[in-house]
Amino acid sequence: MAEVPFDQLDGHIWMNGEFVPWKDAKVHVLTHGLHYASAVFEGERAYGGEIFKLTEHTERLHESADILGFKIPYSVGEIDAACMELLHKQGFADAYVRPIAWRGSEMMGVSAQKNRINLAIAIWQWPSYFDPEQRMKGIRLDLAAYRRPDPRTAPSKSKAAGLYMICTLSKHAAEAKGYADALMLDWRGRVAEATGANVFFVKDGVIHTPTPDCFLDGITRRTVIELAGKRGYEVVERTIMPEEMEGFEQCFLTGTAAEVTPVSEVGPYSFEVGDITRTLMDDYTATVYPARAAAAE
Ligand SMILES: Cc1ncc(COP(=O)(O)O)c(C=O)c1O
Repeated sequence: MAEVPFDQLDGHIWMNGEFVPWKDAKVHVLTHGLHYASAVFEGERAYGGEIFKLTEHTERLHESADILGFKIPYSVGEIDAACMELLHKQGFADAYVRPIAWRGSEMMGVSAQKNRINLAIAIWQWPSYFDPEQRMKGIRLDLAAYRRPDPRTAPSKSKAAGLYMICTLSKHAAEAKGYADALMLDWRGRVAEATGANVFFVKDGVIHTPTPDCFLDGITRRTVIELAGKRGYEVVERTIMPEEMEGFEQCFLTGTAAEVTPVSEVGPYSFEVGDITRTLMDDYTATVYPARAAAAE
């Protein structure tokens, strides 16, 4: 069966304060955000009718816009309320939530001082970011040719649409070789992150993860570091060089879409899906589904 394109799904999209029928939520071709990537977005997940860490995501959306030099004309509280209202209107308990803010069409040069700032929120059902069968065995990652840029080159702390150009290029190159995703190094040649998720490694019972100084310090990343702490696992945030992957035993990705996903290979390096990875996968599920975890106790 052919997949339904994303502009043809059912329901409504919240757009600039109104619920618009899904298929009518359109922008003009002369939109600054489309031509010059003046757009920022979020990726959130609802579990059992609640959006996990909703306010943290909305605050990051505001910060991302601030970094790109524009102000979203809705407060964090208004955006949170709109997300929840839309989730109920769409009738989903478990879903993916995508707010996006962009500069409109009033000016079409590089300068966009007078452009309206638009905000839309879409919610759809997106069960697993990676193939579920592959995910349980550990996904395979290519080593990307593109590197995460120097913060002096790009606004790396913003979840800005433009920063995903090299992610799509890297992911496509990986998929062409049969990999699920790609691991990117940073501009200095250090291990950074995957194209839409942070990375962790395990060696001798200790968890290692790169210091997020030129890529997103993910909300899932911080959640997993907290969960690891509760289990008594030591987590070391530090510079990780690619050659070190030779000695790591386990590897996993974290992200709102990816959740906690085991990795079995990065280029020439192999990993097992070990106990620490499995424990953190389970702990993450229990955290995002507190009601389900309580019922199981
Ligand atoms: C490039 C990139 N890194 C990391 C992450 C993980 O961030 P979070 O856990 O906040 O979803 C994401 C996903 O949003 C991402 O797109």
